[in-house]
Amino acid sequence: MAVGVFDSGLGGLTVLDAVTRRLPDVPFVYLGDNAHAPYGVRTHDDIFNLSCAAVERLWDEGCDLVILACNTASAAALKRMQETWVPQNKRVLGVFVPLIEALTERQWGDNSPPREVAVKHVALFATPATVASRAFQRELAYRAVGVDVEAQPCGGVVDAIEQGDEILAEALVRSHVEALKRRMPMPEAAILGCTHYPLMAEAFQDALGVDVKVYSQANLVAESLADYLIRRPEFLGQGTGSRFLTTGDPKAVSNKATQFLRRKIVFEAA
Ligand code: DGL
Repeated sequence: MAVGVFDSGLGGLTVLDAVTRRLPDVPFVYLGDNAHAPYGVRTHDDIFNLSCAAVERLWDEGCDLVILACNTASAAALKRMQETWVPQNKRVLGVFVPLIEALTERQWGDNSPPREVAVKHVALFATPATVASRAFQRELAYRAVGVDVEAQPCGGVVDAIEQGDEILAEALVRSHVEALKRRMPMPEAAILGCTHYPLMAEAFQDALGVDVKVYSQANLVAESLADYLIRRPEFLGQGTGSRFLTTGDPKAVSNKATQFLRRKIVFEAA
């Protein structure tokens, strides 16, 4: 049994960490498409094609269920993948819906009409492609009414993280938060809508201030995966061991991953 976790690069490791903690007996195969990161500045067709190639690679590893631990792929490609491409005996799940269910105080599968929720002013930080897709607002509108969402495309942050430049990433986070606050001075909640951003969570919280609740996507995804596997255990694939795969340079990616997660991680060529 094994489950696949995919991201354009290092960001999905924040999700991998949380799912590994939540499901310690499940082997996970991680694939980072570092050779093609960042996805956030690519076209939707490009993101679709790259995501399909990566998911197929994880199917080859015996992972019938793959988590797109990438908001950009979840926002720009997942619906099209599920509707036109994923075969019956496989599953591809995204990272958006668990987050929106938490924000709108809903249980999984609660399809009741949209209703008023406690939060009214939400700041969304995401890649330019995720913001342009408006997928977050679309999913939110299915579940809640009267929520004002201000979205900030955070150009450059993923690049800086992928290059291991924490100082630049931090400076960019501060300037993106300031830009958002000029349009929405008092958000009640902030969504880090890119799996790379939890690596900069402190910088976001610092710049936003202590009164803003910052939603952690990784733990919500882990809970929702645990729940899914109880309902659909048949999607635990035939794979047997955990692995870290990259389309980039395994040595350089291993070094950056180890630096960010502060534990030794060894990538192999995908
Ligand atoms: N970490 C990904 C996300 O959640 C991808 C970012 C990128 O490659 O631009 O959006």
